Amino acid sequence: SSTVDAAITAFRAGQPVLIHDAADREGETDLVYPAGGVTPDAVARLRNDAGGLICTALSHEVAETLELPFLQETIDHPLAADHDLDYDERSSFSLTVNHRDTFTGITDEDRALTITELASVAADPDVETFAEEFRAPGHVHLLKAAPNLLADRMGHTELGIALADAADQAPAVVVCEMLDDETGKALPPAAAQAYGERNDIPYVEGRDLVERLS
Ligand code: 5RP
Ligand code: CA
Ligand code: ZN
Repeated sequence: SSTVDAAITAFRAGQPVLIHDAADREGETDLVYPAGGVTPDAVARLRNDAGGLICTALSHEVAETLELPFLQETIDHPLAADHDLDYDERSSFSLTVNHRDTFTGITDEDRALTITELASVAADPDVETFAEEFRAPGHVHLLKAAPNLLADRMGHTELGIALADAADQAPAVVVCEMLDDETGKALPPAAAQAYGERNDIPYVEGRDLVERLS
């Protein structure tokens, strides 16, 4: 569809898109950037305009090469024994990281550095280089995509990585939920779409990405 074309074109140029997963899943719209295109201004937009949790999703293959686990499988605590979610089988959370050249890790500059360097690592993954360049825990949440991507799971994690693949970007994408400042809840899809129109950011439905990219 034309919205998928617009999303691929934006991503190819390092520009963000808005992805709504599905009304019967989270029902959230994430602001999504190819990680290589994230500047300090982009981090400011993510925290001011999106307002959710700023995460960087990696493909399953890259995460495996970098020896990044699904966090739930590694937390040895009763809280993690049953990770019951109402909207999916499991979360995609992995470790949190900071680039070693960051200071606190949370400033717009620090997070942009961590995120763009993650894009470089994802383009040519090597666990030793990764460990030399990054520390954990940190201020950027990593997400690990499902092994068979959209065939396994249709979260923003997988939708974003599928879009990166289609746009010939490294398999590293930043996602952050669009929250409604009035209600504190997920921003309704129509409002997310209107935000996209005001800011020239393509809005795309998860099902349209799945149809085209699976
Ligand atoms: C991290 C999340 C978000 O929902 C994010 O979109 C990734 O999760 P998913 O792949 O389940 O949609 O929970 O803030
Ligand atoms: Ca979520
Ligand atoms: Zn999500």
